[in-house]
Amino acid sequence: MSSVKIEFKDLSKRYKDVLAVSNFSAQVQSGRVTGFLGPNGAGKSTALRCLLGLVNPTGGGAEINGGSYSQLVDPIHKVGAVLDSRGFHPGLTAKQNLKIMASASDINFSRIDEVLELVDLASAANKRTKGFSLGMKQRLSLAIAMLGDPEILILDEPANGLDPLGIVWLREFLQKLAGEGRTILVSSHQLAEMQNTVSDVLIINKGVLVAQGTIKEICKGRSLEEAFLELTLRKSA
Ligand SMILES: Nc1ncnc2c1ncn2[C@@H]1O[C@H](COP(=O)(O)OP(=O)(O)O)[C@@H](O)[C@H]1O
Ligand SMILES: [Mg+2]
Repeated sequence: MSSVKIEFKDLSKRYKDVLAVSNFSAQVQSGRVTGFLGPNGAGKSTALRCLLGLVNPTGGGAEINGGSYSQLVDPIHKVGAVLDSRGFHPGLTAKQNLKIMASASDINFSRIDEVLELVDLASAANKRTKGFSLGMKQRLSLAIAMLGDPEILILDEPANGLDPLGIVWLREFLQKLAGEGRTILVSSHQLAEMQNTVSDVLIINKGVLVAQGTIKEICKGRSLEEAFLELTLRKSA
């Protein structure tokens, strides 16, 4: 049984003369990979930052498990998030980076080998991250997000810079986690890459929700790119 875990409620965020997110309402269910899709500048990162309490909305709000992120009792074990995969110490190894994050969150070091295994980085555990490919950095970010074994995963553009094998790896990784009943919200501007990864879709364009539904309902036999073009052209017509 899936249930609503994340809800955007009439969320708006204005930066001076830019309305980044405009009256955005949408729900995200557990046990599914939900794609938060739209072109660059559509407002995805801003909406996710509002959801995680990193940015204050100018209107409405966003909830996790029925309350704000700051109200979560045990946030590390509830929500894992990756908003930016460049935040490592380049001179330290993958394992050392994970140790710093685990210490900061009071997580047992025994979890470190588990998450390295989970993201297929065990063989690079003792390598310095400055030599890591973009794909390896993305996976290390995922390992950090998984440290607390969270029930909800929020990822901003995790497919960015991945090669086709990396995309397939990410797809299987996210679908496995959703299959365990977790809630996965993943943003991307690469619609074609996400086509076979996500089961539910939120489409945002110029800060506005364009469509919400299962990938079948949205695509109706078309590709996601075709569906997006048709939906946005219709809206602005
Ligand atoms: N800190 C900020 N200050 C001013 N404008 C911003 C800021 N962050 C984002 N924006 C603007 O808000 C809009 C949405 O950006 P963003 O949320 O990053 O979109 P996306 O993640 O979909 O690419 C863009 O026009 C962007 O330039
Ligand atoms: Mg973004």
